[in-house]
Amino acid sequence: MKGSGLRKARAEAPSNIAIVKYWGKRNKELNLPLNSSFSISLEALRVDTEVSVEDGPGTSRLFIDGEEVTGEEFEEYAGRVLEAFRRLYGDFHAVIRSKTNFPKSAGLASSAAGIAALVVALNEALGLSLSQIELSKIARLGSGSACRSTTGGFVLWEKGTRDDGEDSFCYQVFPETHWPELVDVIGIVGRQKKKVSSRKGMLRVSSSPLMECRLKFVEETLPKVIDAVRRKDEGEFYYWTMRHSNSMHAVILDSWPSTFYLNDISFALIERIQESGIAGYTFDAGPNPHVFTTEDEAEEVVRIMREVGITEIVISRVGPGPKVLDSNR
Ligand code: ADP
Ligand code: DP6
Repeated sequence: MKGSGLRKARAEAPSNIAIVKYWGKRNKELNLPLNSSFSISLEALRVDTEVSVEDGPGTSRLFIDGEEVTGEEFEEYAGRVLEAFRRLYGDFHAVIRSKTNFPKSAGLASSAAGIAALVVALNEALGLSLSQIELSKIARLGSGSACRSTTGGFVLWEKGTRDDGEDSFCYQVFPETHWPELVDVIGIVGRQKKKVSSRKGMLRVSSSPLMECRLKFVEETLPKVIDAVRRKDEGEFYYWTMRHSNSMHAVILDSWPSTFYLNDISFALIERIQESGIAGYTFDAGPNPHVFTTEDEAEEVVRIMREVGITEIVISRVGPGPKVLDSNR
């Protein structure tokens, strides 16, 4: 299985937006979640990563859009992925060069796409031929939400119950072709780095008495969300999308110390989209809205966004999963 000399592989992977959110862990080393989550892989937000690997000890390095990531920022994300591959392959080191196809500073989560692209590229460069399910478990170690970026379309991350995380993985529920009219209108509201990362923020859920209620809500309604997508029921899908976003942000507000990720523009948009009846919003740990609607209503959603003061807008379709672009194996 081992190779000789320098081997290179390049892969690209989608970012994803959670409809049913992951917020809270039962194991923080293995990124095992308290609840299952459901997401959509995005066509317009992608990361392209090239890895050069060589057997044996050495320093691994990561460059994102030309800038090196070092220290804890490296060790706690990509470093965990490299460790997982070493357990399967043996010792190696890698130089990783990653490019985002969207402005990295725009506050659009890129780590999920970046970690997924890295996992797929390393699998190729090391010649391991791991399945998508196995790759999702490795991506999960790097960053929980990244496991959902190892496939395209509509994706379920099963929380699993085992302590070793072997049953906590992702798979595609519907392909990207399932609901071709559906689009995500993404508003770029805040460019600043969030004060409290998702990783740190979600550790605070243990202080929220609302969390127990949220876990029950997720358990009961996740099948309804999936069913709304199965039936391509716009109204139902928008409704559950908004309820799940609100549920996560309610727990975030209820946790102590409190974190606030939404701002005045986010709240103005929430009100307008609820009134509109033509779309459903969702927010991750930041102020940027993802508003789902159908192609024929996208222009109206863009108008609403402009009205509340959002000027930078990206429209994405549901996208395919990762792809190996190049390999010299
Ligand atoms: P998010 O995208 O979730 O908002 P950040 O952009 O702050 O989070 O990224 C968190 C960490 O994820 C970074 O410190 C880095 O270690 C890792 N990361 C981000 N982008 C990539 C990438 N393209 N390749 C590998 N790791 C990445
Ligand atoms: C709000 O996946 O960034 O985007 O597992 O600690 O790396 P770690 O957390 P991360 O959290 C994502 C939180 C979220 C919701 C979601 O994507 O489900």
